[in-house]
Amino acid sequence: MSEIVVDAVGHRFGDRSVLRDIDLRITERRVGFIGANGSGKSTLARMLNGLLKPSTGTVTVDGLDVARKGAQVRRKVGFVFTDPDTQIVMPTVAEDLAFSLRRSGLSKVEIAARVQRMLDRFGLAAHTDHPAHLLSGGQKQLLAIGSALIREPE
Ligand SMILES: Nc1ncnc2c1ncn2[C@@H]1O[C@H](COP(=O)(O)OP(=O)(O)O)[C@@H](O)[C@H]1O
Ligand SMILES: [Mg+2]
Repeated sequence: MSEIVVDAVGHRFGDRSVLRDIDLRITERRVGFIGANGSGKSTLARMLNGLLKPSTGTVTVDGLDVARKGAQVRRKVGFVFTDPDTQIVMPTVAEDLAFSLRRSGLSKVEIAARVQRMLDRFGLAAHTDHPAHLLSGGQKQLLAIGSALIREPE
């Protein structure tokens, strides 16, 4: 089980302070951040895999500083964006899932097997060759989650 430690984190966008003095130690399997729109939930989430470096303080995943070991951290931590359209890049559902594994070193056969597992898991098997951008909003979110999980992050 991974451990994420947020230590004295603050963040500013320009002269606007968005996060101040955040200390967290996360080991639970499921954690929810609840807060008003614009309160900084996504900003904090982006720090957990180094998409955003905190202005002050540090975030570590299993001891790896996300600001310095971003690539290593991103192999452990999957990430799904608020808006799935920002994450869907290939024309069809199956191609979009497979795209996540393009640098995995896995064989075509193994990639196809993982794609099929995700299609089945998220109820998208009937949409294998469906244009990804014509899925419903909820189906797009499932596809984005599938594209993150297909890489088997910790
Ligand atoms: N890249 C950015 N540049 C400037 N301001 C940003 C940026 N990203 C987020 N913000 C601002 O930071 C605040 C927190 O945003 P966010 O973390 O997305 O909130 P939420 O809690 O709704 O997920 C918002 O006021 C937002 O406008
Ligand atoms: Mg958000």
